Formats: sequence, structure tokens, C-alpha cells
Amino acid sequence: MSVATSTPQGAYQLIRGQTDPEAVIIAIGGGKGGIGKSFVSSSLAIFLANMGHETYLIDMDLGGANLHTTLGEGLPRVGINEFLTDSSLKLTDVAVNTQFPNLKLVAGSTEILETADINDFQRSRLMSSLYKLKTKYIILDLAAGSNNSTLDFFLAATHKVAVFTPEPSSIENAYRFLKAAFHRKIRRFENQLELGDIINELMTNRSKYNLRSPADLLRAILSREPEKGARLQMLMNELNFEIILNQVRSIKDADLGPSIQGVCTKYFGLPFSYLGHIDHDNAVWQALRKRKHLLIEYPHSRVYAQTMAIARRLMAAQMKKAVVL
Ligand SMILES: Nc1ncnc2c1ncn2[C@@H]1O[C@H](COP(=O)(O)OP(=O)(O)O)[C@@H](O)[C@H]1O
Ligand SMILES: [Mg+2]
Repeated sequence: MSVATSTPQGAYQLIRGQTDPEAVIIAIGGGKGGIGKSFVSSSLAIFLANMGHETYLIDMDLGGANLHTTLGEGLPRVGINEFLTDSSLKLTDVAVNTQFPNLKLVAGSTEILETADINDFQRSRLMSSLYKLKTKYIILDLAAGSNNSTLDFFLAATHKVAVFTPEPSSIENAYRFLKAAFHRKIRRFENQLELGDIINELMTNRSKYNLRSPADLLRAILSREPEKGARLQMLMNELNFEIILNQVRSIKDADLGPSIQGVCTKYFGLPFSYLGHIDHDNAVWQALRKRKHLLIEYPHSRVYAQTMAIARRLMAAQMKKAVVL
């Protein structure tokens, strides 16, 4: 018996058919555009690189790429488009150095791709390249929306971070995005755990069984199939979504962070972590107008301190994870 199957956790890992990536992958998603995913991704990348860790920042916003601008860089001559269209290239071939030591950028595609989604071959090639990339951190700046590629890259990450803003439409979009991720994940386990028929039956008769949330679904599965349901719950618990609240304008706004975390935990029946909030500050876009990142232009701002605190919390969460494994 291999080590992987000798512990319950190893056995579940085998069920997932998943190996751990070489790097710590942090995916920044959230469903809606304009909420600050690129700002948050670039800020975290700058801090992690600044702490001395080799970091890759990757623009996954195919068709609407602008991460280089957010970072205060010119348009690199190569990027993800070249990687996707030339299978002889490695990710390291399309990464460029930035003004920040230790920080490499894989820029997005400036040409609008025919479809903002990528085909299955491209997706799995990109996924395995990310898993094999030998670096300390990879930050994925995800596109808006919840198409399958975006969900798969979000789910493949070590840290699955959803950005919210206090605006009701952003909150709604982020819930929808997380719910789509939840369902995509559960569908992946249903065959392995032979729960497909039960889940289909429950989902078709949602109103009859009064299943109003993902947590209700998990409970219903558990009551019908206690053993497999418990395994499923354990696997789903590993999702451990993390939340950042951006563009906070008041104390009342800031209070939304912990309450969103509470609502999510209850609604999904899964653990959620709250990484903290970032103020709305006009200096963010004022710095960008000067083609600089706020962290460089305004190192004494509250936003600087808040993003640094979030980067530290992520690193602390990572260390905890490493100890548990
Ligand atoms: N905390 C903030 N305070 C002020 N402006 C912000 C903040 N975060 C993001 N922005 C601005 O909001 C706009 C959208 O941010 P961006 O990071 O491009 O969002 P996304 O990647 O989610 O589409 C940009 O003009 C950016 O400068
Ligand atoms: Mg963006």
C-alpha cells in the first residue's frame, strides 16, 4: 500500500485524483468586473515578491487583459496568448521580469480571443503547467463571470479568494460565483463517491425537499447516505474559500466583511475565512494615471497597510495548512 492510501486523508486525495502543485497558487475571483480583482492580485504579488519569494502573477482575463497596466508596466511582448497558441512554449518562456525584483508577469491576451473561453486541451495544458511551475507563489487574476475555465482555475488553487465590494450587485455576483464553484466541485466528487443519482434526484426536486442552499443539499445527502455524505462533507470542507472586502467607504461597510463570512458559512455549510478589508481610496487610480502602483506611490496610505495585512494573513494561513498536511 502506498503512503497516499495509508491514511484516510491520503485515501481521499486518491479519490480526488489530485496531486499538490509545486507552488502555492492563490486565485483571485469574484464574478463581477471592476471590483478590484486586478488591484488585489497585483498588490498581493508585490508584497509576496517584496518579502523575497519568487512570485508569478498571471493574467487569466482572456480577452480583457489589463493586469500589466494595473501593475504599472508597459505591454509585454509575450504573454498567455503565445503560450496558448504555441504548444512548444513553456509558461516560463512567456513570463517577463517586472520593475519588482522576484516578480514575474504573464500578461493576458490583448487580442480579443474568438471566445473568451479556452478549449479543453489548452485548459489542461495550462493547468498542468501551473501545477509544475517551480516557484514559491503563483497569483491568478481571474476573469469576471463564472465560465467553466474560470471556475476550474479557481478550484485548482491552494487559496481560493473571492473579492466582494459592499455594493449589493457585487455581493450577489460573488455569491453566484461561489455557488457555481461549489456545484462544479460537488459534481466532480459525485461519480467517485457514487452519489450521482442521489444528487440528481435531490436537485430535480429542490422545492419539494425545501433545499434552499448548498448547506441544505449537503445535509440532505448526509441524511440519506451517512458514510458517503460525511466523506463528501470532508472533501468539500477543504475548499475553505477566503474573502476580501474591497472598496470600503465607511465603518458600516467594513462591518459587512465579517457578516458576509458568517452568512457564507451558514449558506454553504462550509468553513470560510475572512482575510480583511481594503478602503476605497482615489489614490489607487490616481497612482495608475501616473503609471505607478499605489504601493509604490503611496507607501504611507491605509490601503498599503491593509493589503500588507491581507498578504500576511494569507501567508499565515498557508503555514497552518502546511503544518496540517
Ligand atoms: N480600493 C480601491 N480604491 C479605489 N479604487 C479602486 C480600488 N480597487 C480598485 N479600484 C479601481 O477600480 C477599478 C477596477 O479595478 P480592477 O482591479 O481593474 O477590477 P477588476 O480586475 O475586478 O475588473 C480600477 O480603476 C481600479 O483602479
Ligand atoms: Mg481585472
